[in-house]
Amino acid sequence: MRRNLRKQLPPGPTVPGAFQLLGVWKRPSATLQRARRRYGKRFTVKMPFQPPFVILSDPEEIKEVFTAPPEVLHPGEGARILEPLVGRFSVILLDEGAHLEQRKLMLPAFHGERMTALAGLMGELTEREVRSWPCDEPVQLHPRLQRLTLEVILRAVFGLEQGQQLDELRDLVTELLVFSENPLSVLPAAARYLGWLRPMRRFDQLVRRTDSLIFELVKERRAAADTDRNDILAMLLQARHEDGSEMSQQEIRDELMTSLVAGHETTASQLAWGFERLAREPAVLNRLTEEIDRDDGDEYLTATIYEVLRLRPVLPNAEPRLTKQPVTIGAFRYPAGVALLASAYLVHHDPEIYPEPWAMRPERFLGTPPGTYTWLPFGGGRRRCLGASFALQEMKIVMRAVLSRYAIEAVDLRPEPTARRSITFSPGRGATVVLRERMQIDGTGASAEAVVAA
Ligand code: HEM
Repeated sequence: MRRNLRKQLPPGPTVPGAFQLLGVWKRPSATLQRARRRYGKRFTVKMPFQPPFVILSDPEEIKEVFTAPPEVLHPGEGARILEPLVGRFSVILLDEGAHLEQRKLMLPAFHGERMTALAGLMGELTEREVRSWPCDEPVQLHPRLQRLTLEVILRAVFGLEQGQQLDELRDLVTELLVFSENPLSVLPAAARYLGWLRPMRRFDQLVRRTDSLIFELVKERRAAADTDRNDILAMLLQARHEDGSEMSQQEIRDELMTSLVAGHETTASQLAWGFERLAREPAVLNRLTEEIDRDDGDEYLTATIYEVLRLRPVLPNAEPRLTKQPVTIGAFRYPAGVALLASAYLVHHDPEIYPEPWAMRPERFLGTPPGTYTWLPFGGGRRRCLGASFALQEMKIVMRAVLSRYAIEAVDLRPEPTARRSITFSPGRGATVVLRERMQIDGTGASAEAVVAA
């Protein structure tokens, strides 16, 4: 880092950039916490071929970042590596006016009321998946939750019915998502045509086949002009630009793929952490199961989900915001070319904000909604996650379905370590638990005693 620039930025680790990258990649939680203890609520991390990253964990400064004008901070630029998968119109990649335009087109599709209409479908898919889970032996829940959240996106977002189209798209995107974890997939398009990069040719083939399937689907759905559907695609087909024009098939394709990439692994990993935590927290599990058995609202379930998102945010930070102009945040005047990163992980574990931050206490959120700048699993400001209501609803449905049917036990009481899967943090042993079928009462519900005894 240039010496002048370094003087303008908060202090941070001084080891060479390659080591800093290694620490952030291999032991992200420990590296962040160590730097926070040593340098305070803001520090600078330098990695090879990257702008300096300033990690922020003061809610006041995070507020300033989330509310800065769109021409000053650009989150879209930092996400460009996703372009081969999500496409150039993706709301995640855009900034300023272009971002606002795509976001406005998408917002109605993710509105709370629309989500309620999708609850029945989410419930049906969840029941089908969950009832096939094996009992009385160690089972990894994470891969099963991935299968479920993928099915939910394909049915609720793409609006696919069971049949050949669904089967083919499921196979294609499964391969694509595995592939996108390979660092090669982020190479610029030109490099991919080099003959020796055979995996890249496969990636491009997969993208082309996926695109043509989605374009076919869009064409069919436009021709059918069915206005009774509840899926996200139906809403995008009805959306209009300010000049009254429809979204192009490429725009629709890009936003559908964006929802798939942004919403599939995140929700699966967050649910996996939920079960990993609950299996080790019998008091929370029992109180939650009692509420579910009483069928008496979802106050504790909601608070439990907020607490899981606080304790184990699967995205440890909001998208990095690249400074395009000098900007003052807190006591620092940042020049252009710096990435400002709001750290959900550090804010969520700050004992001044959350006393005993490592303890799981859903009670923190009973009667107290999460704070806008102190609870950041979905980021914030004009870039806040568009799928937050979708994800929260899905998490509630899945947790309720699993805990109504099964008692869960940890195989090993030590917490699972954090594993990095692409950009998400997930439980390192796949959320391994033992499930026990719960006693049914009159065939209508499960008995709380079975869980208490477990
Ligand atoms: C537990 C699950 C999820 C978590 C933890 C999560 C988290 C996030 C975070 C941290 C961001 C960046 C926000 C920022 O930088 O301020 C984001 C953006 C986004 N998420 Fe999610 N997400 C989840 C599920 C979903 C789902 C299910 C969908 C769609 C079906 C979705 C769609 C999006 C989109 C479109 C954006 C980009 C918004 C923009 O740039 O304007 N997410 N998400």
